[in-house]
Amino acid sequence: MSLENKVAIVTGGNSGIGKSIVLALAAQGAKVVIDYLFDPDATDALEKEVAGLGSQAVGCQADVSKVDDLQKLIDTAVQTFGRVDIMVNNAGVETRTSVLDTTEGQYDKVLDVNLKSAFFGTQIAAKQMIKQGEGGRIINITSVHEDWPMPGNTPYCLSKGGIRMLTRTAGVELASHNILVVGVGPGAVATPINTSTMKDPALLAKLDGAIPLGRMAQPEEIANVVAFLAGPNATYLTATTIFADGGMMQSSVGL
Ligand code: BGC
Repeated sequence: MSLENKVAIVTGGNSGIGKSIVLALAAQGAKVVIDYLFDPDATDALEKEVAGLGSQAVGCQADVSKVDDLQKLIDTAVQTFGRVDIMVNNAGVETRTSVLDTTEGQYDKVLDVNLKSAFFGTQIAAKQMIKQGEGGRIINITSVHEDWPMPGNTPYCLSKGGIRMLTRTAGVELASHNILVVGVGPGAVATPINTSTMKDPALLAKLDGAIPLGRMAQPEEIANVVAFLAGPNATYLTATTIFADGGMMQSSVGL
């Protein structure tokens, strides 16, 4: 197992892509702190699933839009498992609002949950990794929309565009500590964030038609990329984003 003796934190870890990331890292032997905000029962169930894989996970309720709560995640990892090797900044929300109708509250929520959390998650995890002196991996879950406009989802695009530059800049700044910072940019994934699209056959057909591979990703297909990036074969990737989007960004078929 490639992540034996490694400790990971996954924000937004008890559902969607985050849940699959927890399982993919644990399957490789990593011990995992599962950050969650809602649904402690889902977190308990996931802890048991991880135990079934022969590893260990602990849930920690934290609002990642608050720096003190991010610190709580790091402290939990250090107190429970002794260290932090892998930080996955995954938590994300979207409002599906345009530049004309986004309220201040919606703007703050999306930017705080998606971007502020990734910024301070990177900062706090990097400080711990520097203290340990053995490098580390920071993986930011971004989106094709770090680059590609999605009309009607403006605050989300801003937040992911910010993560793009966070990944690049922090990757350069932290390289001398052997802390690798990489973004993973999914296209459309079958998770709760896309429930409304999946329930609308016309919208779903349009979305599938815009993806060269002709379908949404399953969350495991994104998690497998994260497990690779966290592992021993990904030693020369930093300050960049890997897109796992079924070819969506290169397609000339618009959404
Ligand atoms: C968004 C989804 C969207 C997908 C493809 C994701 O980042 O969260 O709402 O369907 O990108 O455009």
